[in-house]
Amino acid sequence: MLGLFDNDYGADGFRKCSVTGLQIHESVEKYVKLFALTAIVALLYGGIFAFTVAMTRWEVVGLLGPGDFYTHLSLHAWNLLIFWMIFMEIAILYVGGPMVLGRKLPLERLAQLGWGTMVAGALLVNYAIWTTSAPDQAPLLTSYAPLPSDPLFYGGAIVFLLGATISALPFFATLWFEKRENPDGTLPLVSFGAFVTGIIAVEAIVGGLVAFGYAFAWRIELIGSIDAALYRQLYWIVGHGSQQINLVAMIVVWYFLTHVVGGAEIVSEKVSRTAFILYLFFINLGAAHHLLSDPAVSTGWRIFNTSYAFYGATFASLIHAFAIPAGIEAGRRKRGLGGGLFGWLTSAPWKNPVFSSTIFSIILFGFLGGITGVLMGQLQLNMTWHNTLATVGHFHATVVLGTTVAFMGLSYFVIRTMFMRAFISPKLASIQPYFYAGAMSIATLMLMYVGILYGVPRRTVEVVENIPGTDFSLAAAAPLFNVFGLFALLAILGGVLFLVIAVGSVLFGRKLEPGDNDDLTPDGGLYADGGDPVHTYEMRGTFVLCLIFLGAFVITYVLNWYLLSQLWQIGA
Ligand code: HEM
Repeated sequence: MLGLFDNDYGADGFRKCSVTGLQIHESVEKYVKLFALTAIVALLYGGIFAFTVAMTRWEVVGLLGPGDFYTHLSLHAWNLLIFWMIFMEIAILYVGGPMVLGRKLPLERLAQLGWGTMVAGALLVNYAIWTTSAPDQAPLLTSYAPLPSDPLFYGGAIVFLLGATISALPFFATLWFEKRENPDGTLPLVSFGAFVTGIIAVEAIVGGLVAFGYAFAWRIELIGSIDAALYRQLYWIVGHGSQQINLVAMIVVWYFLTHVVGGAEIVSEKVSRTAFILYLFFINLGAAHHLLSDPAVSTGWRIFNTSYAFYGATFASLIHAFAIPAGIEAGRRKRGLGGGLFGWLTSAPWKNPVFSSTIFSIILFGFLGGITGVLMGQLQLNMTWHNTLATVGHFHATVVLGTTVAFMGLSYFVIRTMFMRAFISPKLASIQPYFYAGAMSIATLMLMYVGILYGVPRRTVEVVENIPGTDFSLAAAAPLFNVFGLFALLAILGGVLFLVIAVGSVLFGRKLEPGDNDDLTPDGGLYADGGDPVHTYEMRGTFVLCLIFLGAFVITYVLNWYLLSQLWQIGA
């Protein structure tokens, strides 16, 4: 089809990638491309609603009325948070499994069936949301019962989740075959991370099937009523579980891309693997932070899950946050690219959009998404964040500035090394990550500010002029909304630029020969020859960065407690 799936494979169906050195089988590459392309279509579609939703929240424009707003918000959330992400994550599983292990994709028919089922589920969900009519309501992301949504919506969600399960089977089968053939071998770190992602995905999907199955049974009147509190607990197994898949898949992408384009060499794989295992045990318990304001669960349950248990996962993130930059620093110093404190960073390939996207994702996820996640996941501070636009700011920092930006970097990598296409405009491709991440960071910060400083609620059409039925005015937030609106527009433009470059390059980019991709490999090749073991090189630049991160964390933490104390005047 349009030559999109062609490459020069040997008689055995394999080819050697000139950048990663991996032996890639045609069957794997074909499906990585298929899932990645489908993800990009979902990004394009969901991105249209980023425009309509943002231009509604910016009341100066006030694009949509309440009836349409919730439909558009639901389409925005499902196409971006679920379809863009999960199609891409299946591609990541195939990269982390058969591609990294140099194997064929087993059970190819299942990959095909899984893709078809996921597409059918996604279409059903979109159709159900578009055609929702009273008494059914647009589901938003959460489809909280007892708010009724079209039964087709729950059916579509179930079909999509079943499709994702089928699509993941060839990945699990690959690991099974690999371990059977090499029982004493250790999986490469990227495959190991992908395996942990896969297990977390299974947990999330099981939760999703139960939650949506329960709601579906209620909507088709198989059962007479639904327990709203139980539904919320079940829902968050998939609602937050899918965010854990995004997080772990993103970290796998960080390890992979910083190594192949940045020259990173992981200093202690054991430590990084331990961090992945910590996720396995603790990360899902963090889902409880969505229920911090729920009356149905006990305070002890909330505190245990969101504090003691969840810090196991936070600790894992902090390990990765040290291990990845330390790997870049030590790997680049080993190559002689690291004079001074930050020479390893300043000499890095900042014009390469694969590298810059990955680094922006790491920094912005950590500083904006990670810190705010720990703050708002705490029982007391949650009171000032809950259901305000600050929450929306937090998760745009994680899923947009973190995961979406990382996945954009991965898409650029796939275009160059798998579609073997030159960018239609290398200059625009170099600028795009700066433009998108920069504009989206400001838009995200504004969402946090209007939420935390003024308490502006999320999921409403009109807020600044009045809150219907009250005298309470939020007009003071209007200037910040103007900044938000402008930067949201710029961010959307940055997203359009990504889509034009990605789709344009795949369709019209010059076909590359293997040698044409040499500019992607780090100076000195993928593995620096000779030299001392990587852990003997200095990592003081990373240590300083970690101290800056700690400083930002402490300041934000104290500031949030200060703001809370202003609301909650004990003894006044
Ligand atoms: C330029 C890019 C984007 C802009 C300007 C934007 C803007 C917004 C705004 C203003 C809202 C809040 C509406 C409200 O609560 O009243 C929102 C909600 C949301 N956005 Fe985005 N967004 C963008 C990209 C994304 C991406 C890439 C994702 C996912 C990967 C995403 C996921 C969501 C989700 C899940 C919601 C919440 C839906 C709900 O409350 O049910 N957004 N977005």
